[in-house]
Amino acid sequence: MITLKSAREIELMRRAGKITAAARALAGEMVKPGVTTREIDKAVYRFIKSQGAEPSFLNYNGYPASVCVSVNDEIIHGIPGDRVLCEGDIVSVDVGAYIGGFHGDCAATYACGTISAEAQRLIDVTRQSFFEGIQYAREGCRVSDIGHAVQEYVERNGFSVVREYVGHGVGRNMHESPEIPNYGKGGHGPKLLRGMTIAVEPMVNAGTAAIRQMPDGWTVKTADGKYAAHYENTLLITAGEPELLTVPAP
Ligand code: MF3
Ligand code: CO
Repeated sequence: MITLKSAREIELMRRAGKITAAARALAGEMVKPGVTTREIDKAVYRFIKSQGAEPSFLNYNGYPASVCVSVNDEIIHGIPGDRVLCEGDIVSVDVGAYIGGFHGDCAATYACGTISAEAQRLIDVTRQSFFEGIQYAREGCRVSDIGHAVQEYVERNGFSVVREYVGHGVGRNMHESPEIPNYGKGGHGPKLLRGMTIAVEPMVNAGTAAIRQMPDGWTVKTADGKYAAHYENTLLITAGEPELLTVPAP
């Protein structure tokens, strides 16, 4: 069932989204050589709690941290720990915050110091693929129009889209209907209606789309060892342009 949010619920989603986006920005600013991924997790935890919110990810299906930190060939769900970030790494940060009964969910990939031109292009194409996709996040479009636009843009730029993980509705639960794949033909799936809140989140590999699940039960890597990037915002479907509830930093 796809829920439509009332004006009051949308106000609560805005509050959750603001805290979530600020937590992402904080994590992104911490991406520097010498920092451990655990330090980022601790800071995000403290920030979310300081806002009176709860980290959505902590204990979600047993997930042990407040943030996912995925480095280089790690696509998503990297668990923070002793890993020390190095110059040239690309670091995907994914975070959720829960307050007032609603979740925000967002992610982005950050450069650690100076990175290669090709790694920067991967980050830029991934971010832009989100914006290509959400041109179809409008009342009357269908869910698969979003993924079709994401895939077209990513593949036109020589990269590939992960199939096994998808975007999703978001609200009282972090993962709600509908699923929002980042690939496929347009014109399929549920029609988008104002009041729906969704997370659109392209995961883009520099090489092939194939993935490898790590034995920790969480971390997902590229099968070919090439880099991957991730970009996600929570957004509201309106009568016109979608409203980004996790507003990206300028
Ligand atoms: N934020 C992820 C998503 O976008 C989910 C994270 S899984 C968790 O759907 F276990 F880390 F919470
Ligand atoms: Co998500």
